[in-house]
Parts: sequence; structure tokens; C-alpha cells
Amino acid sequence: MSPNLIFSATFRVFRQVPWLPMGILAVGLVVAPQAVWPEPPGAPSAILLPSVTVLAAGDLLGEITPCGCVGKQLGGLPRRLTAVEQARKHTPGLVVVDLGNNFPPPTSQGRLKAALIQPLLARTRPAAVLPGPNELAYGLNALDKQLPYVASNNSLGKALRKDVTVRTPAGLLGIYGYLSPQAGFQQFAAGYRLEPADPRLLDDWKARSAAAKHQIRILLFRGSEEELALFTRSGFFHLILSGNPFTDELNQVTERKSAGVVWPQVPTKGQGFQQVRVTPGSPAVQASLLWLDDTLADHPAAKDPFNRYDTQVKAQFFARLNTQKNLEKNSPYAGAEACRACHPAQVEAWENSAHAQALAALSAVGKNFDGECLACHVAGWERGGFLSADLTPKLAGVQCENCHGPARAHAATPTTSGLKTAGSLNPPQQVCAQCHVGAHSPQFEFGAYWPKIAHPVSPPTSN
Ligand code: HEC
Ligand code: HEC
Ligand code: HEC
Ligand code: HEC
Repeated sequence: MSPNLIFSATFRVFRQVPWLPMGILAVGLVVAPQAVWPEPPGAPSAILLPSVTVLAAGDLLGEITPCGCVGKQLGGLPRRLTAVEQARKHTPGLVVVDLGNNFPPPTSQGRLKAALIQPLLARTRPAAVLPGPNELAYGLNALDKQLPYVASNNSLGKALRKDVTVRTPAGLLGIYGYLSPQAGFQQFAAGYRLEPADPRLLDDWKARSAAAKHQIRILLFRGSEEELALFTRSGFFHLILSGNPFTDELNQVTERKSAGVVWPQVPTKGQGFQQVRVTPGSPAVQASLLWLDDTLADHPAAKDPFNRYDTQVKAQFFARLNTQKNLEKNSPYAGAEACRACHPAQVEAWENSAHAQALAALSAVGKNFDGECLACHVAGWERGGFLSADLTPKLAGVQCENCHGPARAHAATPTTSGLKTAGSLNPPQQVCAQCHVGAHSPQFEFGAYWPKIAHPVSPPTSN
């Protein structure tokens, strides 16, 4: 079908937008500060013809709201609700879709998040949601019936829809979903069977499309290059939107080339939208990226669900404490105070560093009971170390033992066995990367950061 070829031509227009590696500075160039939802740049001829505008996000990966580790972060459901509401005002008939993979891995806290994510996603009234591997990992029963989960290549059961039809000014729109049976996406729950991309599957879809009289067809896609190429070459779809296989939010990859066509791919970690206009009469498909930056207010409807979530996380924290508090006496962690007698210079430098304040920073935002935050803000979380500010105050903040490893045994009998010494912390930036990663510390550069927290490199005081 010719639309795809023209698509790549118009896409190039979009790609002339100065494109920096995604970072905070790049955002302003893509999203106009005032008009948050600009119309995509476009061929004037296309404007006169009826078109469908699709707003697509996905791959939230449990990043429900920016963590607040640094200023000016992207993403979050509270902003997403505001963005969709604004976009619907600007663009009547807007079709919202989601590429899925929104849940975090299935831990107990992950389940609380999944329960937060789905009703908020439902508020954006998506026409279709592709279930991702992270959704399927929870089992089909975890999928909210309010949400139209679509997997057109599922051949078992009715828990997932085969396709969705939307009436638009440009004609009947069919939305299909393809989740690859490869890459382990099939391995999780029972109750569905993903069929491979092959001519037989396409024939099945063509028959469905003819019966439903779809005039425009969109595919929500998560799979390999080969699978994408098959669908691209078939010419059956006016638009193929890809889920994002990457997790590096600082280097967003937002397009996918296939058989000479450049298809849009949603940003990872739910940091923004692809806004795509499909005009079936003229073969123009235009895509632009819209980032969820801090020009978007948090939607008030997100407030209560987030408060409830925090309350549940707190309850989980205290329930865990009840089962763990006896473990303290066997903890391999000692805390910085236990080092003072022999390494006074290091302890003094550490006390005056930002690291010593890292738990206080969480308390200040009411997140000192959230395990996902504590992991980087205290010593030995879930590794036999920090339990709570009351039980283990000596392990609050980022400590010697976050970098040097648990050192209780060493403090009792000072050999270097089991310690990460100056020799093994080489290069030292490796140890920083446990925590100074991605959106948690986008400006991190060892040369600039180390002097701010460095402790003297001096031998222990002998006594
Ligand atoms: C992957 C590790 C990691 C996780 C997880 C993490 N943080 Fe952070 N946080 C950091 C780092 C690193 C910094 C310092 C960033 C910098 O200055 O470059 C930081 C800084 C902060 C600060 C600013 C402290 C100050 O005094 O300016 C706050 C507030 C904060 N984090 C809150 C949170 C919350 C809330 C969560 C959980 C939702 C969280 N963090 C999860 C690593 C993490
Ligand atoms: C009783 C004295 C004493 C205490 C308490 C003590 N250390 Fe040490 N530490 C030493 C001695 C002595 C060495 C040198 C050991 C050697 O080289 O075999 C050393 C070496 C180290 C080294 C390795 C230095 C290197 O790179 O060669 C680190 C790291 C270290 N200590 C961290 C800690 C931490 C963290 C604590 C507190 C939890 C602590 N120490 C408590 C005496 C002590
Ligand atoms: C943020 C990570 C970090 C923290 C926190 C930290 N250190 Fe270190 N430490 C290092 C690195 C990296 C080196 C190696 C530095 C080098 O070789 O220049 C080092 C080196 C050392 C040495 C070896 C000095 C020598 O003579 O070679 C000792 C002893 C030591 N640290 C003790 C401590 C103690 C005690 C604390 C807590 C009060 C602490 N460190 C906190 C990262 C850290
Ligand atoms: C266990 C997680 C963790 C590790 C490992 C870690 N940091 Fe941090 N770092 C943090 C957190 C959390 C903060 C925020 C503390 C605060 O301000 O309350 C922080 C803050 C800082 C700051 C202050 C930033 C600012 O803007 O004031 C510097 C500098 C820093 N870290 C450097 C380093 C270096 C260098 C290393 C490696 C040698 C390192 N950190 C290792 C978690 C970590």
C-alpha cells in the first residue's frame, strides 16, 4: 500500500526538529512551553481531508509518577490524565490507545501499583490497550475488565479482545493488537495462546476487517524486526505503533524502521505520547512527540488514588517490619558510627555529605516507608540492613557500607576480607551507578560528583 512510503517522507519533516539526545534541555524544543499540544507539522493538503488523530503511550513499567530525585523529570499518570483531557479538548474525536507493559514486575508492591494504574488508565478512556509481558506476568485475572485489552493473535479464550472498531470522521477504524509469542511473552499465565505473525494470521485479520468494514487499520505491536517487517510489507495497516523494548529513559528511542518505513514507537517509562494523524484519503501519516513535562499540572482525580496507594505501601512496610525485626541482631551491617574509632576522617567527611541526609530527604516528602525509594536512600535495604528509622537509625542514609559492602564483621575483626576496598572499587564510578542512574541522577558525572562527597583517602588510625 502506498501510504507507508509517503509516511516515511512526511516523517522526515518531523525529524528535522532539532533532536538532542533526550534530556531535560531537549524537552523545551519538542513541546512548546505554552501550547502544550501542538498540532503535528503537516502537509496543508492533508488538513482538508477527514483524518484520525491517535494519541499513544505505553511502557509505564510501574513509573507511576516522577520520583523527585532531581527537578524537572518527565512522565507520571497524574500528568497523563491532564494531558489527555487537554488533548481531547483540542482534538474532537481523538483516539487514545496504549501499548501496555505498564505494570512493574509482580512483587507485593507491584500488585498495589497495578491496582493504582488500571483505574487511572481507564480514566483516559483508551479505545484499545495491548497487554504487555508485564501485564500477562500477573495472570489474566489481574486485567481490569474496564480496559479494552486487545490481542488479535490470541487464539484461546475470550479474555482478550480480537479487535476494536471505532467510528471516526474519516471512517470506521479497526484497532488490532499483536504481542509476539517469541521472547517469552507466552510463558506466563494460562488462558491465552499467541499465534505467530504469518500469512495465515493476516488472512484471518483480513477476513475480520472485511466483515467489520474497517476503512482504516492500526496495529499496536510488540515484537521482533522480522514480525514487524511482515506486517509492514503486507500494506494492511495505515499505522503500526510499537511498544518500546528499551528502558533507558535518558536516550529515548522513538521510531522503528521497517522495510523502508519509519514507524513511531512510544517513549519508554510513560514519559510522553506519540501523537499521530492518519488521513486515509491523502496518504499522509504524521507523527509528533509530546513529553509529559512539568508544564502539565497533576490531575486532581489522581490525588485520592495516590494517597490510598501510599497508605497501602505504608501498611506493607509495617507488616514487613513485624516479620523482620528479629533479624537485626544477625545483621551484617554496622553503620558509620562503628567505623569512627579507626576511620575518623572518613566518618567526619561522610557526616557532612549529602549521603548522610538521604533518608531525611525521603521523610521530607513522606516516602520514608516506600521500599522502592529506600533501596537507594538507606544502607542494606532488603539485604539484612535498614529496617526502619526507629529500629535501625544507625543505617539511615547512604552509608560507608553502600559502597564498601556490609562491614560489621570487619569492624569487629579488621581484615579486608569481604570488603570492597580501594583496590576493588576500581573504577569507583561503578559503585555510584547502583543509584546514580537514569532519571534518578541524569546529570551524574563522576569527576564532578566525587569531590562533593569524597572522604579522605587515609589509612586507619592505629591504636
Ligand atoms: C535508583 C536509586 C534511587 C531510587 C530508587 C530513588 N532515588 Fe531518590 N535519589 C537518588 C539519587 C542518586 C539522588 C541524588 C541525585 C542527584 O543529585 O544527582 C536522589 C535524590 C533524591 C531526592 C533529593 C534529595 C535532596 O536533598 O535534594 C529526593 C527528594 C528523592 N531522591 C526522593 C526519592 C523518592 C520519593 C523515591 C521513590 C519514589 C526515590 N527517591 C527513589 C537515587 C534514587
Ligand atoms: C577496630 C578498628 C576498625 C574499625 C572499627 C573499622 N575498621 Fe576498617 N580498617 C581497619 C584496618 C586496620 C584496616 C586495614 C586492614 C588491612 O589492610 O588489612 C581497615 C581497612 C578498611 C577498608 C579498606 C581500605 C582499603 O581500601 O584498603 C575499608 C573500606 C574499611 N576499613 C571500612 C570500614 C568500615 C565501613 C567500618 C565501619 C563499619 C570500619 N572499616 C571499621 C580498622 C577498622
Ligand atoms: C559513595 C561511596 C562511598 C562511601 C559512602 C564511602 N566510601 Fe570509602 N571509598 C570509596 C571509594 C570509591 C574509595 C576509593 C577511593 C580512591 O581510591 O581514590 C574509598 C576508599 C576508602 C578507604 C581506603 C583508604 C585508603 O587508604 O586507601 C577507606 C578506609 C574507606 N573508604 C572508608 C570509608 C568509611 C569508613 C566510610 C563511611 C564513613 C566510607 N568509606 C564511605 C567510596 C565510598
Ligand atoms: C546506595 C545509593 C547511592 C550510591 C551507591 C551513591 N549515591 Fe550519591 N546519592 C544517593 C542519594 C540517595 C543521594 C541524595 C541524598 C540527598 O541529597 O538527600 C545522593 C547524593 C549524592 C550527591 C549530592 C548531589 C547534590 O546535588 O548535592 C553526590 C555529589 C553524590 N551522591 C555522589 C556520589 C558518588 C560520587 C558516588 C559513587 C562513588 C555515589 N554518590 C554513590 C545515593 C547513592
